[in-house]
Amino acid sequence: MRIIKAKDYDEFSKKAASILAAQIALKPDCVLGLATGSTPIGTYDQLVERYERGEIDFSQVTTVNLDEYRGLGKENDQSYYYFMNKYLFDRVNIDKQRTHLPDGMAPDSEKESERYEKLIEEIGGVDIQVCGIGNNGHIGFCEPSSIFEKVTLCVDLAEATIEANKRFFESADDVPRQAYTMGVGTIMKGKKIMLLAYGEGKADILAKAFLGDITPEVPASILQLHPDVILVGDEAALSKFPDS
Ligand code: F6R
Repeated sequence: MRIIKAKDYDEFSKKAASILAAQIALKPDCVLGLATGSTPIGTYDQLVERYERGEIDFSQVTTVNLDEYRGLGKENDQSYYYFMNKYLFDRVNIDKQRTHLPDGMAPDSEKESERYEKLIEEIGGVDIQVCGIGNNGHIGFCEPSSIFEKVTLCVDLAEATIEANKRFFESADDVPRQAYTMGVGTIMKGKKIMLLAYGEGKADILAKAFLGDITPEVPASILQLHPDVILVGDEAALSKFPDS
């Protein structure tokens, strides 16, 4: 695993964006696995700035997102579909036909999960997967559990996640109780994984995930077994790592 440490959010976002920009430069028709949440917003802003300077061409890029709330439509401003358009897709020259998220309004959750897993295979798999990490160690919406989920599925959100994400909604009651997520197995199939962690609130869970036991109780801990992980963190998030 490579660890990249940044001093503040600006540098953190620039470093993460540089890795994605390099991926697109090396393989213009690459598949980017993307995440939402507060952590990658600066990274997407940086990508947009570089696009505007003529440094990145998204025209052949394909994207697949990690997850989507079940029950929220594309027009809902809390859906991840809406988020991705707002922060990235509407601001660069990406072909929207090549941007993919689970359909939060699909009537049959099993069928939708199967469709999404198959789609990822059909587009050739993910070249680089961006992940955040939840306070409880989740990646995507793979919550702490007794097993590592292999494929895309519809999950019940953990109370800790509802609590953490209520800041985006009017109240905790408005947070959807279910979401689609790539499985841990789906995420691990990504050729490269870039995990982004920002702020002291992530320090304990990051240490648990990367320095502790590999256990489905801390889903991100599986990344210790992936051969090509880049951990991008700021000084506070990485403060529990030995060389910090
Ligand atoms: C979002 C996602 C989640 C977040 C995680 C951290 O697509 O997959 O796992 O990455 O909950 O969220 P933030 O960045 O808001 O701390």
